[in-house]
Amino acid sequence: QKETLLLGIETSCDETAAAVVRGGTVLLSNVISSQMDVHRKFGGVVPEVASRRHVERMTLIIQKALEQAEVSLDDLDAIAVTQGPGLVGALLIGVAAAKALSFATGVPLVGTHHIAGHIYANHLVKPLEFPLVALVVSGGHTELIYMEHHNQFRRLGRTRDDAAGEAFDKVARLMGLPYPGGPHIDRLAAEGKPAYDLPRAWLEPDSLDFSFSGLKSAVIHLLHNAKQRNEEINSADLAASFQEAVLDVLVEKSIRAVKMTGVKRLLLAGGVSANSGLRIRLHQRCEEEQINLQIPPLELCTDNAAMIAAAGTYQYLDGKFADLRLNADPNLPL
Ligand code: KG4
Ligand code: ZN
Repeated sequence: QKETLLLGIETSCDETAAAVVRGGTVLLSNVISSQMDVHRKFGGVVPEVASRRHVERMTLIIQKALEQAEVSLDDLDAIAVTQGPGLVGALLIGVAAAKALSFATGVPLVGTHHIAGHIYANHLVKPLEFPLVALVVSGGHTELIYMEHHNQFRRLGRTRDDAAGEAFDKVARLMGLPYPGGPHIDRLAAEGKPAYDLPRAWLEPDSLDFSFSGLKSAVIHLLHNAKQRNEEINSADLAASFQEAVLDVLVEKSIRAVKMTGVKRLLLAGGVSANSGLRIRLHQRCEEEQINLQIPPLELCTDNAAMIAAAGTYQYLDGKFADLRLNADPNLPL
């Protein structure tokens, strides 16, 4: 059997990305153009600005990905594009580009779910072994997913309000740290102690859902009260307290999900996987519980198109093609 060759395209948020993946696992190229510099001055991603940037960069990024992989469009078995979830205007640019390429070349089209992509980032390091539980934590998502086979996803839990990364970014903003704030909190937390008492939302006893808005409100109150009383807040201690509150829930609910489903493997995925505290805590807990933990390298944790090409490969192998009616869906279900 000839090895599959897929082009992946990703534009769901503020990264314009294209990549070529062979056999679902071998990265031939992975080109990412970040717009972080443009959005930083606004303190967050501005959707309209993101879309315009994608339009300017898309063609060049696709060309680079093909060139670096030393393949031509005719060599491809399929083009996989992030269909959703994400910013609709941003998604539309990738979808339009993928459809145009598919129409011009006759190469089949696959519409891929962004969260599936994050999970399949792990597949580029070591082939996924099933069954597994994945904790997907990014700026837009906090989900626990169960997988028994390729291409099959069952959601065990999700955030009911803010995503974990969003909570990091919002609290960082309150603390006057630059966007995106996750890495800054991570760095500060390492220098502080969890001295402030902040809430953990465990929700119903068996629930695998998450909630971070109460934690964010608690930080707002703490900062507000301190200001009124003219008290100093130690930002390293606040960062450590906040991070510990988030990690307590993320780690324990992931372990609970693994135990409830009886699996032996936990995968971490999404931008917040870069958090050093989370990596350390999960390693410790998984070792105690004899759970096999897999965490992708940092460059595959954040948004990229290689993960989309990897996930798309299994849709292609299952014959799950899209046609030219493919549309971006900001709320695409997994
Ligand atoms: O997966 P990603 O690149 O984009 C989305 O799909 O959202 O994730 C970005 C998120 C941001 O919220 C960022 O603050 C967070 O990941 N992040 C971190 C760290 N590095 C990135 N959060 C906590 N600690 C980090 N070291
Ligand atoms: Zn993402």
